[in-house]
Amino acid sequence: MRTSLRVVRTFVHSFTPAQGAKGFSMLQCRLGYTQKAVGEWAVMPSRHCSMSVEGRSDPSMLRHLTSKITATGPITVAEYMREVLTNPVSGYYVKNDMLGADGDFITSPEISQIFGELIGVWCVSEWMAAGKPKALQLVELGPGRGSLTSDILRVFRQLQSALNGAAVSIHLVEVSPKLSQVQAECLTGERTQVCVSDKEAVYHTGTSHTGLPIAWYRRVEDIPKGFSIFLAHEFFDALPIHKFQRTDKGWREVMVDIDPEEPEKLRFVVFPAPTLASTTLIQADDKREHVEVCPEGGVIVQNLANRIVEDGGAALIADYGHDGTKMDTFRGFRGHKLHDVLLAPGTADLTADVDFSYLRRMAGGDVVCLGPITQRTFLKNMGIDTRLQVLLRNCHDASTRAQLIQSYDMLTNLEKMGQRFQFFSLLSRSRLAEPQEEGEGLKRRKKGRVPLPVAGFSELGLQ
Ligand SMILES: C[S@@+](CC[C@H](N)C(=O)[O-])C[C@H]1O[C@@H](n2cnc3c(N)ncnc32)[C@H](O)[C@@H]1O
Repeated sequence: MRTSLRVVRTFVHSFTPAQGAKGFSMLQCRLGYTQKAVGEWAVMPSRHCSMSVEGRSDPSMLRHLTSKITATGPITVAEYMREVLTNPVSGYYVKNDMLGADGDFITSPEISQIFGELIGVWCVSEWMAAGKPKALQLVELGPGRGSLTSDILRVFRQLQSALNGAAVSIHLVEVSPKLSQVQAECLTGERTQVCVSDKEAVYHTGTSHTGLPIAWYRRVEDIPKGFSIFLAHEFFDALPIHKFQRTDKGWREVMVDIDPEEPEKLRFVVFPAPTLASTTLIQADDKREHVEVCPEGGVIVQNLANRIVEDGGAALIADYGHDGTKMDTFRGFRGHKLHDVLLAPGTADLTADVDFSYLRRMAGGDVVCLGPITQRTFLKNMGIDTRLQVLLRNCHDASTRAQLIQSYDMLTNLEKMGQRFQFFSLLSRSRLAEPQEEGEGLKRRKKGRVPLPVAGFSELGLQ
């Protein structure tokens, strides 16, 4: 067996104490939504979900949005989403720790330690397949509470000998000061330093519990050059989307306006004339009635692709999404329930399914894109079943055992997170085999090296 695959095997069979599920009980991940084609022209019906809105409210965000709309007219859905989620003063992500039991939703790294561990093994495997570069930058976009990176660092420590003295550094891209604090507590304990100036690209630094340097940035562009493994879990779905409606006059952009009947309420309208976005962002052969496009996600993927081409590395993107087939997926979550996206803005998470076909197009031809494949397939290929058995064998506490099994089911069951969550990867072209002259079969471009299967995307035969 090739070395990088041996690493996968060694880890999934090795033992680390089971932490059980991380506060996961009957919480909802951000899945449930009803897909609904948008039919009306001019005024769009907003999604009214069965929910309560008592408790939190944020009149300042609503006031901010209504004065903006009063001054300049209806705003795009992308602008609405950007303001609501990441406005530097009152954005939802900027002010809240929204993950977990007291928050609005739960994510896979929060559900089980196994999730992050297997992704950690994926990182080491890709680093090895790239020829074990001397330095490895682990970059996470939108790290939430820091749980994924924390589980990965535990794997790195366990696979120290395989990492062979590589200079590992951690780079986190986080827009939220509140969450960056939570991440610092999780990853560094006391060993953290806040930056001096807002203008610095690095706004926070620290040293991990395992002694690795960690730096926080606001933008992907600010991460230093170098061989990097990029991870984005439930990050792209939080980026602003533009929404478009097919009409008999062509594509028109959906905007957010004040309801003239109720000035305290917002509503969707369809802009009567083409906008720059409606004329540039939609594929000419798109057959759908309604389309969502996330140009910010496209720019970030382009950036990752360029870095992978120039400096080597790989990206792993995991999110709920589709391959260019879905239409109206914009939804809100609050208190683990669906929430009307236009109601009490700033008090609920806003999200839209990731269009992987768009990310693939934006990545361009200089990198190879793998997937999307389902979370169930990815985790099974990475050896989640073996890993669960190892943890269960070493765990004698009945409730932790039950939680391990329950969280395994949540992650892999096709009715739960196993199907809707998808894994997608960008890899350097030199990483994969390319067909050579007929009869020679698949050969790696670099002479003398045989292509390795990509962990997670191919069956590794771990049992
Ligand atoms: C849905 S949470 C996912 C958290 C974590 N990855 C997980 O799976 O538990 C989205 C994360 O992305 C961050 N985020 C959202 N928009 C961002 C942006 N434009 N730039 C950087 N981080 C952003 C949020 O603050 C948060 O940490």
